[in-house]
Order: sequence, then structure tokens, then C-alpha cells
Amino acid sequence: MTVKNNIRSPLRVLVVCLGNICRSPAAQGILEADISARGLNICVDSAGTAAYHQGNPPDKRSVNELALRGIDIQALRARQVQSADFESFDWVLAMDKSNLSNLLSLCPTSLKGKVRLFSDFIENPVNEDVDDPYYGAVNGFAHMADHLASLSQQFLDYIESNP
Ligand code: 4NP
Repeated sequence: MTVKNNIRSPLRVLVVCLGNICRSPAAQGILEADISARGLNICVDSAGTAAYHQGNPPDKRSVNELALRGIDIQALRARQVQSADFESFDWVLAMDKSNLSNLLSLCPTSLKGKVRLFSDFIENPVNEDVDDPYYGAVNGFAHMADHLASLSQQFLDYIESNP
């Protein structure tokens, strides 16, 4: 497959939620599938602002919802955001405003520009959250995956239009 952006230095994107077991591993899996389909050279990782689930696989409900969409995220393991992440990633994308606020408080001032909401790249951004499905209804995971699928395409549209 043709790789469209610079093969020597892939863009590096970190997607972040609270626990790194529901939303951000799902976002990572969806982004990776879309990146591959578009033939882009972008490296994606995910992390949580909290350490509760460090080392754990994604929540089964995220695994199952992504499997329905042909994406396997079972091998991912949760980790907490580290200060080095703000240096080593080009974009650090928060799932919700609480994650964003926590990330900004950890991030050195000079690097804060790379810390954004994942929803900031849609046509008319309105600070929308990817809702946390952890304690919610079963269909929260389908809603989360639909939302992430839309945000992933719009983020990659932005990246392709602003190389
Ligand atoms: P996530 O969801 O931030 O999308 O991974 C959560 C996972 C675990 C918890 C909260 C949210 N928790 O409280 O353990």
C-alpha cells in the first residue's frame, strides 16, 4: 500500500481517557484501522490519566463492540500518561474535558498546543466529550464506537488537509 505522509517520521498521536480501558483503546483501534485504510504513516498509542487499570486489557464491552466492527483490541494494555508523552507525541488528544484539564495541568507550558480534545477537529467544534460508557447503559459502548468512528475520520481529514 502507498504510504502518503513522511515515512521517516510518522506522526505520533496519543489518545487519552481516564482509565485507558474503554474509550482510548477503542479510539486507538479505530484510528489504526482508518489510518491503514487511508495508507497513512501515523503511529497511535493510548493512555489514561489515572493508574487504576495499569497493565489491564481493555474492558470486554469495548473489545466486543470493536470486534463487531472487525477491529481486535484485545492485545492492548492500559498505561498511565507520563510526562515524557508530551515530548514524544505530536498530538495528545483527550476524550473529554476532564481528561483535557488533567492533561493540561501535567503538560509543560511550551507543549500545551499539542494537547486538544479529540472532538476539536470536526467542522464546527463545540467542546464535545466522548461520553464515558463505563458505568452507563450497555448501548453506551455502541454509541461510543459510533462517535469515535466519526471523530477518527474527521481528525484524519484534518491531518491530510494540514500536512
Ligand atoms: P475510560 O472509562 O476512561 O473510557 O477507560 C473508565 C474506566 C474505568 C473507570 C472510569 C472510566 N473507573 O472508574 O475505574
